[in-house]
Amino acid sequence: MTAPTRSAARLLGALAVAVAAAALAAPGDWSPTERRLILGLGPWPPAPQTDSSNRASGRASAIELGGFLFTSARLSADGSMRCAACHEPWRSFTDGRATSQGLAIGRRNTLSLWNVASQTWFGWDGANDSLWAQSLRALLDRSEMGTDAQRVSTIVRGDSHIRELYRAAFGEPTEGNDEVVMVNVAKSLAAFQETLVSPRAPFDAYRDALVAGDLAGQRRYPKAARDGLAIFIGKGGCASCHSGALFSDGQFHRASSGTPSPGARPDQGRLEGLRALAASRYNLLGPFSDALNAVGADRTRAVLAAQPIAGFRTPGLREVTASAPYMHDGSVATLCAAIDEHAVSESRPTVDEAHRADVVLSRQDKEALVAFLRSLSGNARYFSESKGSGCPD
Ligand code: HEC
Ligand code: HEC
Repeated sequence: MTAPTRSAARLLGALAVAVAAAALAAPGDWSPTERRLILGLGPWPPAPQTDSSNRASGRASAIELGGFLFTSARLSADGSMRCAACHEPWRSFTDGRATSQGLAIGRRNTLSLWNVASQTWFGWDGANDSLWAQSLRALLDRSEMGTDAQRVSTIVRGDSHIRELYRAAFGEPTEGNDEVVMVNVAKSLAAFQETLVSPRAPFDAYRDALVAGDLAGQRRYPKAARDGLAIFIGKGGCASCHSGALFSDGQFHRASSGTPSPGARPDQGRLEGLRALAASRYNLLGPFSDALNAVGADRTRAVLAAQPIAGFRTPGLREVTASAPYMHDGSVATLCAAIDEHAVSESRPTVDEAHRADVVLSRQDKEALVAFLRSLSGNARYFSESKGSGCPD
């Protein structure tokens, strides 16, 4: 053997060892079922979609108006409250409180607005079937902005900047029809919120590396997060509800928390939501939808005709690290405790019977799950293995 050939052979040998080591360390050792489940948690970001019930959806002029109003306090009853006060961008569009505090104390935890355009039912109880109707609720709700159609339209007509933006999006604000102006304002707020798509996260890079067979890419994903992923789609049973690219099935399940304080009216979640949906003149079957057969109208018809079910909407888990405290009532302070709430025990049957598995999660399992949940955040600040998991000893 000549010297160059020998070194080539050595190099090949070394390569073979490296490849073997990579295969051993290969994080892609998933069964076909596991692989299918992991791939089902993406791709990210989703293809943009427009809402046929909202003619302002996707329109730049409406997005500009909605973005301006989202951070303006002018619309609220006393001119002091704005959407962004509770939906703070740096907290995953939540407020850090257990339950919200607007013009009055609310009784539910503020929902994140990341990826809100991909929802089908809005609010913890699904009381609205469109993003614009949900935004309208925020304007009217006495514990949020507490405003009314007359006030909204007076401001739209009277504030030269807002009027200009409104005119570009919808034309001249119609005199004598305050409700139409208010609904249009809500539609512009919806158009703006449709742009709130969470950034790609380390998990997305891992999933795509798995699809591409890119081992180097797969190895960049920390072991703890990978272990957590295995539990998430495996024995934890999490992915049966936290499914799809949003990590939510968009459906309603029995609450895992919420022992109401003595004397308080128990929160009936979806049961209340369905009553409100049926009664709302702003639902997709009402006169304000911009499409007679908007996507979703059939769904609304069906759900109102069906046997009502209780529960709260499965929250999505993207950017969940920044939105503590958790659950519909904000009763859970940390991610680790949120997982505890889900771990089923005889004394605390927390999730629907149908999804109930006798899960016993060790502290190590929970730490891995927390590492995995952190990997659903695009903000590197939340994704460091050295950071404690918050799981008590
Ligand atoms: C006082 C705090 C507060 C203010 C102000 C507020 N919100 Fe909210 N928002 C909440 C709370 C609490 C929820 C959850 C309500 C529920 O499910 O019952 C929520 C839910 C939502 C949702 C549903 C998200 C989802 O995933 O279903 C949207 C959309 C929304 N708000 C938009 C807005 C807009 C637009 C404004 C301004 C016009 C606004 N909010 C003002 C507290 C607030
Ligand atoms: C039966 C469906 C179901 C299963 C299974 C499930 N979850 Fe949930 N999850 C929910 C629902 C519903 C809520 C909201 C409950 C509430 O507000 O009372 C929730 C809330 C959460 C929250 C709080 C998020 C927030 O923004 O408030 C986290 C974190 C979470 N789940 C993680 C997990 C993990 C990890 C697993 C597996 C160990 C899991 N879930 C299993 C349905 C489920």
